[in-house]
Amino acid sequence: MSDQSIINENSYNLTPVLYDIRGFFILTLAYRNTLGSQVRFFAENLKGRHLECAIGTGTFTKICMKHARKKHPEQDFSLVGVDYSKALMGGAKKKLKGAELAIEDLRDMSFPDGSFDSANLPNGYHTIADIDKAMVEICRVLKPGGTLYMNVLLYPGEGVMNKISQKVNDYGQRTGILNRPYSRQEVLDSLPKLGLRLDEADTIQNCIFLKTTKL
Ligand SMILES: C[S@@+](CC[C@H](N)C(=O)[O-])C[C@H]1O[C@@H](n2cnc3c(N)ncnc32)[C@H](O)[C@@H]1O
Repeated sequence: MSDQSIINENSYNLTPVLYDIRGFFILTLAYRNTLGSQVRFFAENLKGRHLECAIGTGTFTKICMKHARKKHPEQDFSLVGVDYSKALMGGAKKKLKGAELAIEDLRDMSFPDGSFDSANLPNGYHTIADIDKAMVEICRVLKPGGTLYMNVLLYPGEGVMNKISQKVNDYGQRTGILNRPYSRQEVLDSLPKLGLRLDEADTIQNCIFLKTTKL
């Protein structure tokens, strides 16, 4: 069985609370990011009609929305959150009362072309089987000039901490919650084919953070 074929919506059948706790450890040990740095990054892109891709339990998005309202009050937004996991979406529905939430597979979404002014893909790129298909879809539903922010897990480098990161990645691949990490170059090379302009790329430990615009 290939790595990709074992990933499906059932890989996420933890209760939303347990899922969030596990996610926090993965963020710290595999990505080696802080929650604060991720929130500041993604909150900046909440503007207009916004698509939150792979929203999961909604906990991360809720924190970003709070941060955006405080730090970017001039940016009005309405949020549409999608994920293919019914179990996780149950958690999101309880937390994000005003948001529009839908069960959607990112590889084949029901929205018309050019539906959104902005989109975020937080902590999702490296978990999605057939990411190329999902990226084409995300770009399709984004308006020309719309902005897409995302982060991608990179292969860990050398050192003791990265040995731990590697073990966490192995666990993620065994359980189906990680498709695979990427190299910085392959992620950057994929953008022009998608019609995305790179506005900023910043690597923090084992993650690359990308700000892009659909041309
Ligand atoms: C690591 S979680 C990230 C959740 C949230 N964005 C966060 O940062 O806490 C990855 C999410 O991607 C979702 N996912 C994976 N493949 C997907 C697909 N093909 N379509 C929709 N959602 C998908 C999973 O259900 C899971 O909620």
